[in-house]
Amino acid sequence: MSGNGFIECRNLCKSFGEKAVLQGVSLAVQRGETMVILGGSGSGKTVLLKHMNGLIGPESGEVLLDGLEISRMEEDELTEVRKKVAMVFQGCALFDSMTVGENIAYPLSEHTTLSVEEVRDRVREALVLVGLEGCEDLYPAEMSGGMKKRAALARALILRPEALLYDEPTTGLDPIMTHRINRLIRDLQKKLAVTSVVVTHDLQSAFVVADRLAFLEKGLIRFVGTREEFQASKDLALHEFLADG
Ligand SMILES: Nc1ncnc2c1ncn2[C@@H]1O[C@H](COP(=O)(O)OP(=O)(O)OP(=O)(O)O)[C@@H](O)[C@H]1O
Ligand SMILES: [Mg+2]
Repeated sequence: MSGNGFIECRNLCKSFGEKAVLQGVSLAVQRGETMVILGGSGSGKTVLLKHMNGLIGPESGEVLLDGLEISRMEEDELTEVRKKVAMVFQGCALFDSMTVGENIAYPLSEHTTLSVEEVRDRVREALVLVGLEGCEDLYPAEMSGGMKKRAALARALILRPEALLYDEPTTGLDPIMTHRINRLIRDLQKKLAVTSVVVTHDLQSAFVVADRLAFLEKGLIRFVGTREEFQASKDLALHEFLADG
């Protein structure tokens, strides 16, 4: 166990070619909290998020999950990590050739030996959680953007993770659907006590869902704090970002 956070990033550095994206990022996400990561386009939000379940490994620095270092793990150990820390991808990443039900059941078929009936029940349960009951047989092409986001969330939830990583969960959605997704993120935190990390550049959503917010800029976390602390911060770059949002 670690007293420092359920998901803890320590001094992460990551470059792609000449481009240094993360240049010493440290951030501790406490168990059960919703941490929002804000930052401009291309600032490295997705790259940072993917470090949190080992989809990307750092050049230097560590990621700890519940006190256990995951940043140097082998792929088979990382599979276990990703059951605990599930990701809802920026583009939903649903399989177009599968129905919603099959998409959501996919992680179960990969990681468990549940019976057909058990799988069906778990899929139903996940669909109810995200407000898509009865949509098992639809294909992604037959759904709206908001429905796809919720289906992707149901798939992330199916293995009952301890933490959820959301990449831009409301981007491209209308205000009503945005509100609905934000409420869902909060509800899941309450109902299932999941730890959540939400990447967004939508300020309004950020302030609705966050317990704390972090601001990523020029490869560093410039600021971490509550809504009130965020708004009262004197950091110039943060002010510019807030003013532009
Ligand atoms: N696999 C990769 N190979 C090369 N460069 C990459 C790769 N992944 C990310 N990058 C680069 O890292 C930088 C940060 O990318 P990232 O996707 O994390 O930004 P972001 O903050 O999520 O942006 P957005 O808000 O537009 O989603 C970008 O310059 C991007 O081109
Ligand atoms: Mg991104």
